[in-house]
Amino acid sequence: MKKEGFEGIVNEIQSQIDAKEEKIFSAKVLQEYRNPQNVGRIEDADCVGEISGPCGDTMMFSIKIVDGRIERVLFMTDGCGPSIACGSMTTRMAARKTVEEALKIMDSDILNALDGLPEENRHCAKLAVDTLHKALDNLLEEDP
Ligand code: FES
Repeated sequence: MKKEGFEGIVNEIQSQIDAKEEKIFSAKVLQEYRNPQNVGRIEDADCVGEISGPCGDTMMFSIKIVDGRIERVLFMTDGCGPSIACGSMTTRMAARKTVEEALKIMDSDILNALDGLPEENRHCAKLAVDTLHKALDNLLEEDP
């Protein structure tokens, strides 16, 4: 009985949080944030990039390349919900692209794919794309 009451309070708080997020973020942002794709680190990655943004959050990409194409790409972050959404979307956009194509992905592409972010969260898209590019730059520096 007591547990049920506690669960009821938790559920009520969660639905209030959900309702608040739904007012601030697009459905696509919430989908990526609540169910992020390609999370983790590839142990035998061909390249890795890590950046800490001006907000103090850090993102890391690890990438496996086969025949010049991104075969697998995973990300990790200790950042906010929007940074999780941006990391997830960036991996999904980079997957199966050539290195050259992936280097052309811009933060505006991520923002468009997510149907936008509030002004104060736009840097999260830049952090994700900059980290992807840093990993690929590391690859090109090692293997010019
Ligand atoms: Fe820094 Fe989102 S607030 S990455």
